[in-house]
Amino acid sequence: MDTTLTMPEPKQVARGATMIELRGILKVYRAGDVPVVALDHIDLDIARGEMLSIIGASGSGKSTLMNILGCLDKPTRGTYTLEGRNVNALSDRQLARLRGRRIGFVFQSFNLLSRMTALEQVELPLIYLGVRNRRRLAMRALASVGLADRWHHKPTQLSGGQQQRVAIARALVTNPAIIMADEPTGALDTKTTKAVMETLVRLNAERGITVILVTHELDVAAYTRRVITLRDGNIISDAAPGRTNVVAFPSAETRREPAPEAAGADA
Ligand SMILES: Nc1ncnc2c1ncn2[C@@H]1O[C@H](COP(=O)(O)OP(=O)(O)O)[C@@H](O)[C@H]1O
Ligand SMILES: [Mg+2]
Repeated sequence: MDTTLTMPEPKQVARGATMIELRGILKVYRAGDVPVVALDHIDLDIARGEMLSIIGASGSGKSTLMNILGCLDKPTRGTYTLEGRNVNALSDRQLARLRGRRIGFVFQSFNLLSRMTALEQVELPLIYLGVRNRRRLAMRALASVGLADRWHHKPTQLSGGQQQRVAIARALVTNPAIIMADEPTGALDTKTTKAVMETLVRLNAERGITVILVTHELDVAAYTRRVITLRDGNIISDAAPGRTNVVAFPSAETRREPAPEAAGADA
């Protein structure tokens, strides 16, 4: 792994400026005889500092969209501009660098290594980036998800919710501009789901990290003001306060209980 930092730092841009711009994104999988159109000309703008959910039935294209947004996969057609860079034009190496420095990933299955302590897991991305002060930065990330006192615990010594918060700390430790979470609460019970979602809401509110969440659970989507619904690779609704297609989501600050009935109005 190289340790040179060749990717230019993006200019500091205020919260609210366009961060992500998708235009005419088409994704066709050609696994068998019949091509599958997983994304059908998606146009999407996401502002810096936004927190949004992508919902939709299984097979609607959520993970495909997340993989393209996360620079893990390339569209068949269409353009993706991330922080002013044309992602289509980047080499695999540049994409890997971009992911490592700008995006933190959180997955349903946590993807923790069983033999490592929480601290070691969180240090890993910093090793790949060749960053110094790893221990200090990893401890700070663990503290920011409320797990400073669990740094020496291995995954089996932590609850599911705590494991996912370790994974969030690992996503956070590189100081990413964006956190992308694909079904982060899919393996969690209601109580730990709440802790994980409150952690993501807080990181968004306090640090302005853009949070993009894929979920099929409406009570999880209710934690975000903006909810994008996919069906058969199309955006069939994009709802947030101040937009034309409004669903009454309570704000993260005032919300007490998730409001599945509000989320359900558009699903
Ligand atoms: N690697 C792949 N090869 C072929 N088809 C795929 C692949 N990944 C996803 N698909 C198909 O693309 C569509 C969208 O899938 P996906 O993005 O995983 O949906 P979701 O995450 O909403 O369940 C589905 O029809 C799925 O079967
Ligand atoms: Mg999926």
